[in-house]
Amino acid sequence: MNRATSVFVSEPGDRSVLQVRDHEVPAPSDGEVQVEVAAAGVNFIDVYKRQGVYPVPTPFVLGEEGAGTVTAVGPGVTDLAVGDRVAWCQSSGSQSTLVNKPALLLVPVPDGVDLEVAAATMLQGLTAHYLVTSTYAVGPGTVALVHAAAGGVGQLLVQMVTARGGTVVATAGSDEKLAIAEALGAQHLINYSTVDDLAAAVRTAAGRGVDVAYDGVGKSTFDASLASLRPRGTMVLFGGASGQVPPFDIQRLNSGGSLFLTRPTLAHYVAERDEYEWRAGEVLGAVADGSLKIDVGGRYPMTEAAAAYEALEGRRTTGKLILVPTA
Ligand SMILES: NC(=O)c1ccc[n+]([C@@H]2O[C@H](COP(=O)([O-])OP(=O)(O)OC[C@H]3O[C@@H](n4cnc5c(N)ncnc54)[C@H](OP(=O)(O)O)[C@@H]3O)[C@@H](O)[C@H]2O)c1
Repeated sequence: MNRATSVFVSEPGDRSVLQVRDHEVPAPSDGEVQVEVAAAGVNFIDVYKRQGVYPVPTPFVLGEEGAGTVTAVGPGVTDLAVGDRVAWCQSSGSQSTLVNKPALLLVPVPDGVDLEVAAATMLQGLTAHYLVTSTYAVGPGTVALVHAAAGGVGQLLVQMVTARGGTVVATAGSDEKLAIAEALGAQHLINYSTVDDLAAAVRTAAGRGVDVAYDGVGKSTFDASLASLRPRGTMVLFGGASGQVPPFDIQRLNSGGSLFLTRPTLAHYVAERDEYEWRAGEVLGAVADGSLKIDVGGRYPMTEAAAAYEALEGRRTTGKLILVPTA
């Protein structure tokens, strides 16, 4: 039996319910490997789970993604060996120094990609990938609205839309954040904390309604996102950083121009191993060849997890936050 240090949620609530403590980790069971974690990602879904918006029985270990080195292989695992560098997402209990993970959830980290960068890439990278390939197929000429464009998912969406020949109308809460989006390729920049009519600003900037609105901010932007779309445009509500969107009158899709509305989640776009491998391979491959930039905007020891969430929830971050075992 080995020991680990993990970030626990003791009960649903604010950041005060986070506890970092030691516990025992059994040997990996059938189909599992044990991984020494180099870094674990900090994501908004952790906030929803901690608050109880997504109910999880407590206590539980927080965190959905990470990367590290295999230290032990359980029975029945034939394609992984001690020393392999692996990464994962969509696997709860990841904010820990040592984890047992099903081998089927792990993907190889390419040579040359640092494990901390791999951990920073997985959940947000695969999210941006499915949003631009499958939720709406972005291509040359696509005009996409990307909110919170200097954030974790936002920075990746900006890069992936522009890499596919699309145009990005980026929003953010400060001019400093907009400068980050611009450097990544966003063509139109809107500080949504200073405009009165966000939808009008988007239409003016783009010269027309946008083809697709990628909205992970939710409550405070949803109405403007809908009003920014061209007829038959696609509204992609993929999160609620500002709060959850209240119940919705479906007739608004009619009056808005026969609009499409979807509320996607990563789990449904990586459920099959082939699809998971394809997305992870493309995203980590782009990191390896330098065509996708990962901005690790904050690196915290696991003992300071609460400070990481305070920054994320307080809109004081850009790019991706990670937790590492020690300072
Ligand atoms: N559905 C999926 O599959 C999926 C997967 C991953 C993430 N997500 C969602 O994607 C969204 C972005 O996640 P992320 O981890 O990349 O976070 P992030 O964008 O790095 O951080 C959230 C950003 O949202 C903006 N924001 C606006 N109002 C806010 C408020 N009241 N409180 C906090 N933030 C506010 C802030 O940027 P400004 O200061 O520029 O406004 C903030 O930096 C989240 O809603 C998350 O749940 C969804």
